Amino acid sequence: MKRFESRVSIVTGASQGIGEAIARDLADGGATVVLVDVQRDKLEAVAGSIAAAGGRADARIVDVGDTAAVEAVVTAVAAAHGRIDHLVNNAGITRDGLLMRMKEEDWDAVLRVNLKGAFNFSRAVLRTMIGARYGRIVNIASVVGLMGSAGQTNYSASKAGVIALARSLAREVGSRGITVNAVAPGFIVSAMTDALPEDVRKAYLEIIPLKKFGLPKDVSSAVQFLLSDDAAYITGQVVSVNGGMYM
Ligand SMILES: NC(=O)c1ccc[n+]([C@@H]2O[C@H](COP(=O)([O-])OP(=O)(O)OC[C@H]3O[C@@H](n4cnc5c(N)ncnc54)[C@H](O)[C@@H]3O)[C@@H](O)[C@H]2O)c1
Repeated sequence: MKRFESRVSIVTGASQGIGEAIARDLADGGATVVLVDVQRDKLEAVAGSIAAAGGRADARIVDVGDTAAVEAVVTAVAAAHGRIDHLVNNAGITRDGLLMRMKEEDWDAVLRVNLKGAFNFSRAVLRTMIGARYGRIVNIASVVGLMGSAGQTNYSASKAGVIALARSLAREVGSRGITVNAVAPGFIVSAMTDALPEDVRKAYLEIIPLKKFGLPKDVSSAVQFLLSDDAAYITGQVVSVNGGMYM
């Protein structure tokens, strides 16, 4: 039997990058994967290719920052699949700039998706998880939520926020059989980091002891572990997947 057979997993931001890798690995592990994103064509393509490979995928177009839409989709998912075992809060955006010049809308947009999105989904799945006395929640944070990053006050505050959210919620729901953890990736090859200038990429390589950037698969491996029964006694933790960039 595959390790996630009969599990139902929600992965936000699943149409590309790290979220896509997490969704594909969960489906390979036998889970029914609910893929959430705002990019319809890409999301349906990923869900289609999971299904074509023999996996179970259910694509849902939802903006994680829209509280009412999140509640509606979680209710629909629980009704359609009968359970929700895993939630991976992965959807994220950046709107970089120095704080002195940062527009209020750039602060709000990043906090709305990265932090409120995790609040929306976590709160919405809890009723089902508490009823089942089982659940696994993983928030995708970032190394910059631990070490800070000039030009990313909004983003790094949101990522420190999902770490604190995970730790606090872990304390609230531990007695109900639910674990809540965070994974903090370093520099991972993706659309988000492809957009960085060459000199910034070079500067990062210099401070990474493993001397290479990570892959979405590297982040997914840590997430799969935290979602698995092997991690049953791990909660409120931050697992760094950063090549040693910050330790
Ligand atoms: N790439 C890295 O180096 C890196 C490092 C640390 C942390 N992270 C984090 O990992 C996560 C995934 O990053 P990625 O590199 O794969 O980025 P990405 O931009 O490739 O993927 C992010 C996904 O989130 C989706 N999304 C954005 N806003 C949304 C919304 N409102 N509702 C639903 N979906 C939305 C996007 O459409 C996209 O599919 C993010 O939370 C990011 O902050 C990435």
